[in-house]
Amino acid sequence: MDLPPDLYGRPRPDRFVQRLTAFGDWYNKPGRRPPAPAPARPTPELPLVVTGHEVIAAEVVELRLGSPYGAELPAWQPGARVQLTLPSGRRRHYSLCGDPADRSTYRLAVRRIEGGGGGSVEIHDGLSAGSRLTARRPRNGFAFCGEPAVLLLAGGIGITPLLPMAREAQRRGLDWTLVHTGRDAASMPFGDELRGLDPRRVVLLTDDHNGPPGAAELIAQGPGNAAVYCCGPAPMLAAVREAVPAGRPLHFERFGAAPIPDGKPFTVRLGEAGPTAGVPADRSALDVLRELRPDLPYSCHQGFCGTCEVRVSAGTPEHRDRRLTPEERAAGALLPCVSRAAEGETLVLDL
Ligand code: FES
Repeated sequence: MDLPPDLYGRPRPDRFVQRLTAFGDWYNKPGRRPPAPAPARPTPELPLVVTGHEVIAAEVVELRLGSPYGAELPAWQPGARVQLTLPSGRRRHYSLCGDPADRSTYRLAVRRIEGGGGGSVEIHDGLSAGSRLTARRPRNGFAFCGEPAVLLLAGGIGITPLLPMAREAQRRGLDWTLVHTGRDAASMPFGDELRGLDPRRVVLLTDDHNGPPGAAELIAQGPGNAAVYCCGPAPMLAAVREAVPAGRPLHFERFGAAPIPDGKPFTVRLGEAGPTAGVPADRSALDVLRELRPDLPYSCHQGFCGTCEVRVSAGTPEHRDRRLTPEERAAGALLPCVSRAAEGETLVLDL
């Protein structure tokens, strides 16, 4: 049986159906770019006021921050960090060390680093009760999973994310041990607070007795099946990662710059005619750029905050960050705190 030209038997093709079919063909055409998503609206930063600023150990200040309007602060979980924007405009990440149940206050502890990027010195010398600053909502890349037995290993100021984990482990009745290593007792904050949770579960190891403890000694402080959480300087993390047997849960967070695996020397140039500098295999491009442009902003040093973003106008970068989208990379964005280039390559940057 012949089909009618359209469902109603009309002799001419239906113009509405023709248009609809043409639109469908165009929409489904292979390779057609999907409509660009609406640009995400940036989340406004939280306004904060300093409600407490106190020296709690040698070279360590505890900062307490609240809402200037008395509002509740966004929730967080042990292991979370906030990115602060200081009055100078510097951006820095710090782990929250207070109690997540207290929605009125963010607590953090900052060790003074002379000769660093100036963020810690600004917090120590430039802030006081009443100072205003802003922050991004807390984010957590070091979540506490609450395994039945946990070993918390803190190097120096790396104690900050582990303190709320110890509190949480105690609250849940887990089998927990916290080991805090440091130069000497005077430089190690939160000793009383930790011992107040359960003194039998807290071990302080200071370098002034036998030098820094080795990874095997650290791991031996907890039960053999304990999940390991470690936060501290890069050499401590590397040693612990090496020493924890395969298959045993290991969670870690480093502070400071990420190590540079398989780095090769390359060159950066500031503009077509600008100064040129070599980036050695063991240094980041950000470090080298900051010698030429000391005001170049940065924060995490680990390729996830985006603060150090620059634009490449020539040369082929080797992206090593965890933040930029393929479209942003194709448009020339580069995070020089972690990203590099092949040996002998020259990256020309719009700076
Ligand atoms: S400083 Fe955070 S991405 Fe480079």
